[in-house]
Amino acid sequence: MASPPRSTVRFGSRRLPISPGRSLLEALWNGRLPILQRSIRYHRPRAPFCGVGQCTQCLVRVNGVPNVRACRYVPGDGDVVETENAWPSPNHDVLGALDLLLPGGIDTLRGFRRPAFLTPLYHQVVRRLSGYGRIADRPGGIEPPAARRIETEVAVLGTGIAGAAALSTLAEHGIASVGIDTSPIAAVRPGVAMLSGTTVAFLPPPRPEVDRPWRLIAVEGRRRGVDVRARSVIIATGGYDAGLWFAGSDRPGVVTAEGALAFTEPNRAPFFRRAVVFGGGERAAEILDRCGPQVDAVVAPGSVSPELTEKASALEVPLYPRTLLMAAIGRRRVRGVRLRSRADGAEFSLETDAVILAHRRLPHPQLYFQAGAEMEWRNAGGAYYPKLGRGTATSQPGLFGAGEGAGFVGTAAAEASGTAAAMQALGEEPPSLANLGRVDAIEPNEIEGYYRQLFAGRRPKGKWIVCPCEDVMLTEIEEAHERGYRGIEVIKRYTGVGSGLCQGRYCLPDTLLLLARLEQRRPTEVGYITQRPPVTPLPLSAFAGLPDESEPTGAAR
Ligand code: FES
Repeated sequence: MASPPRSTVRFGSRRLPISPGRSLLEALWNGRLPILQRSIRYHRPRAPFCGVGQCTQCLVRVNGVPNVRACRYVPGDGDVVETENAWPSPNHDVLGALDLLLPGGIDTLRGFRRPAFLTPLYHQVVRRLSGYGRIADRPGGIEPPAARRIETEVAVLGTGIAGAAALSTLAEHGIASVGIDTSPIAAVRPGVAMLSGTTVAFLPPPRPEVDRPWRLIAVEGRRRGVDVRARSVIIATGGYDAGLWFAGSDRPGVVTAEGALAFTEPNRAPFFRRAVVFGGGERAAEILDRCGPQVDAVVAPGSVSPELTEKASALEVPLYPRTLLMAAIGRRRVRGVRLRSRADGAEFSLETDAVILAHRRLPHPQLYFQAGAEMEWRNAGGAYYPKLGRGTATSQPGLFGAGEGAGFVGTAAAEASGTAAAMQALGEEPPSLANLGRVDAIEPNEIEGYYRQLFAGRRPKGKWIVCPCEDVMLTEIEEAHERGYRGIEVIKRYTGVGSGLCQGRYCLPDTLLLLARLEQRRPTEVGYITQRPPVTPLPLSAFAGLPDESEPTGAAR
């Protein structure tokens, strides 16, 4: 019997096979990290970086819709996939020649003002030359699908360890709940309504005195809105691996630990033959567990944990504690790294074709900000976390925080906090969380001291891209400071840092530390940007499909 024809996507002149439920990135994978785009402004080659839908380095155009994350998109048969931001292709981008003519890049934000009637034409031309790509083929022509509504007792945002523990506890008590996760392949939990591949934003409830107090718009598959009403919300959005600033940090081959884990799934050979891992703790040890034979060296910003030392010595991997990562060597891809000892300033290089950043975890705080929860700065994490009162209760009634995003460290703490949040949502007394691992509020932040030393010395040549989405350079932030701009919100508006599609995940945490040092203020005094929903960019059509507010909030539909 003839086997059924395989589903494929069209990519240029080729047809690439796809597998059910697997990401588009898998289909585009070519044995090594594919270069899928060029950066805007400087046309720098970019390859997937995070593997979990947080960065903007795997964007492609699918069926005429721009900026689709290949690592998150599950393709369908016949999808037409194109690269964007480069001409004729990201591998050979002719527009890159402009960088030789205009080494300072094209200023797409300011510049041309008069005569005013030519401004739109000017912007059209410079934006195309800068690699901004094309807008959607049918802007405004998309009929908004009607949103459906879910009414539930508890909405759990994030279904990782903490979210899963909360959902299990709620299911055990027979409480209606819905789990919502951005991953398109979140595990289905028996007896629990799940919305996967979905991002959410808090909306003000239309009639708070009648409706369930929490209202969220969840958007499935970037299109269809789901109007979620819940008595309680548990935020368990977790954390992510941070980026790092060094010359050439945006080179293909530099990936986060999450990226390394995603790109080296057990069924896939690693994209690198040799890697340098940057980090001195648990996360770096995890990478050694998964990719040990390919790891050539572990470079740590500070000291190295006993667990990591033991693993590295078993694998005979050399350790470089208290070392600055100064530069990635290589023009199109990483070929090596330049390092400097923090102890004696000695510089040396290592050959490698991957740099895995496993030095720092950051929380996802956006939904807490949006929900109006009181936040606090915790020094050891170098980030904002929700201020928790009893157990997992935030300052907002009916809103609970669990897991890494709420400052709980480690698997056991994530699980226990998820269970506690579910009990509190049920109105029960939570178990004590006193002995669980928590991000310390006082302890100094390791990366703060690291950057202080890095910026005090001579910097190697090369582009220090601090915001890979918008190609903002470190010197632009420093110049903005010299010109008298103060505070992160102002610096964001002036330089564009943090205004890209990753919504500041990979640039703002470090920008905050830099500004605190330059302005000689505490990070909290430098402020934080206003968090505007949604956390992941969505088409307006999803919101346009929301039901009319005058409709009664009856049964779920
Ligand atoms: S690699 Fe897909 S968003 Fe980062």
